[in-house]
Amino acid sequence: MSESGLDRDPRFRLATDRDLPAILPLARSTVPGFVDELWSRLAGNGETAEEFGRRAQHAFIEVGQTIVADAADKISAMLISYPMASSPNPHVPGMDDMLRPLMTLFQKAQGTWYLHGIATVPDFEGQGLASGLMHVAEDLGRSAGKSRISLLVIDTNLSAIRFYDRRGYATTATAPVVKKGWQTTAKDLLLMEKPLG
Ligand SMILES: CC(C)(COP(=O)(O)OP(=O)(O)OC[C@H]1O[C@@H](n2cnc3c(N)ncnc32)[C@H](O)[C@@H]1OP(=O)(O)O)[C@@H](O)C(=O)NCCC(=O)NCCS
Repeated sequence: MSESGLDRDPRFRLATDRDLPAILPLARSTVPGFVDELWSRLAGNGETAEEFGRRAQHAFIEVGQTIVADAADKISAMLISYPMASSPNPHVPGMDDMLRPLMTLFQKAQGTWYLHGIATVPDFEGQGLASGLMHVAEDLGRSAGKSRISLLVIDTNLSAIRFYDRRGYATTATAPVVKKGWQTTAKDLLLMEKPLG
């Protein structure tokens, strides 16, 4: 990944494996309960959910797709983004029923820059970190020649939906969630998109 989107904001840098302990809880917070359930379903023989999550997050870091906010060696927020691929996570070993609604929506978002995950450590919320990371993602999408940016959010995450709405994102499609062991009141997954001018 080019660092062009990072050049103008000194709060942000590419993540390294040293950041994994801080990144794992942030990844979990993006869709509470869903991420843990999925990690435990995708974990290989003898692997824990935590170990699978670590392996998946390492893979994003390795190819330069994870950006963190770092103030005095304290990770306060993270962003994962990349060009939309034909599978929900290029590092996931196989298809799982819980991923089917994601795949349905991904088909509709082919060719976009995809915002896979964004989260701020609760103590640092409301300081503009996620807003800054959204600008970085949009810059990366433009630099990659994309005309749209996309993301998925569950219908119960009203604060995130408002956050995206205020930044010009609109819902373009929905798909019913597949719960399996995931305890949630969510019904739908929303695809939100924004043109990159
Ligand atoms: C949604 C989320 C990423 C926003 O992160 P953030 O760093 O707080 O975002 P910002 O500070 O840039 O902006 C937050 C907005 O809420 C306002 N705000 C004020 N105080 C706030 C507070 N204590 N907490 C959260 N937001 C607050 C900000 O002013 C801003 O308003 P605006 O949208 O009108 O500009 C963060 O709340 C989060 O990590 N949520 C859990 C993970 C998640 O749901 N991720 C998205 C999955 S799709």
